[in-house]
Amino acid sequence: MKITRKRVAIVGCGLVGATTAFSLETQGVCDEIMMIDINAERAVGEMRDLKDSIEYLGRNVKVTTGTYADCGDMDIIVITAGAPPKPGQSRLDTLEVGAKICESIVTPIMESGFNGIFIVISNPVDILAHYVQKISGLPKNQVIGTGTAIDSARLKNLIGQLVNVDPRSVHGYSMGEHGDSQMVPWSTVTIAGKPFYDVIADNKELVGDVNLDELVEKTAREGWEIYNRKGTTYYGIATACAGIIKAILNDENRIIPVSTLLEGEYGEKDVYAGVPTILNCTGASDVLEIHMTPHELARFKESVAVIREHTKKIMDV
Ligand code: 2OP
Repeated sequence: MKITRKRVAIVGCGLVGATTAFSLETQGVCDEIMMIDINAERAVGEMRDLKDSIEYLGRNVKVTTGTYADCGDMDIIVITAGAPPKPGQSRLDTLEVGAKICESIVTPIMESGFNGIFIVISNPVDILAHYVQKISGLPKNQVIGTGTAIDSARLKNLIGQLVNVDPRSVHGYSMGEHGDSQMVPWSTVTIAGKPFYDVIADNKELVGDVNLDELVEKTAREGWEIYNRKGTTYYGIATACAGIIKAILNDENRIIPVSTLLEGEYGEKDVYAGVPTILNCTGASDVLEIHMTPHELARFKESVAVIREHTKKIMDV
């Protein structure tokens, strides 16, 4: 008889990694969480603090610490370790350091025999997810970046506030780079199925003149607005990561705009970018290629070009 346990390792016990673990634990997403950090004592501290929550949660979750050598039978490994941008830097400016950190993590993990799914949060996430896929040698469906999952949540918050509806009733995506060049295919955005363009036209007194470019700019800037006030972000990205993991471990076929390898979709290939992706027990199972207007597709390709330009700094693409 074989009962399979859902096991997730978190590499990097900083605020993002610890909050991701806490989000998984409080939502009961998996059976085991293994905390890994180059500062082993930090990992032990996070593990012991997380265990103190169990009594007041809906289910028991086994929380442990470990090393890269212990990752062989993990189902999912979340990589949050990375170099935070210095003031004035963009996420892209931390690429070289981030790539070295990822290599120092992925190489020993692959030596452990790991054949599960990597979820990369470390920035610049689109490029580092691609890099992890290359150095791990795992198939594309097994290496996912959180991509524009968090940006899409921020976009839906902004639209929800604008028209006074629950953000979960807003359907739409920010796509492309998890960064300044991201774009929104507005022709595909709906509120409970009603095209956003029609919602704006029918509610002039509520929304006034909506500047869509400004909404995209605000969405892309939100991470920085938070970073400038509290020094980092973690609740949004950690919960987005937990949602991605839940879709995978529960084989949900849920569509989330994660960063995945494009292989001809939107006329792009050999580049990771945030696009609506079907997530199930195989990981990034398929890309749902949405129909954009020619202008929207051009904007998406501009964003992909930014990702590709910087990917070339560490990989031949
Ligand atoms: C964010 O935008 C961490 O880059 C991530 O919150």
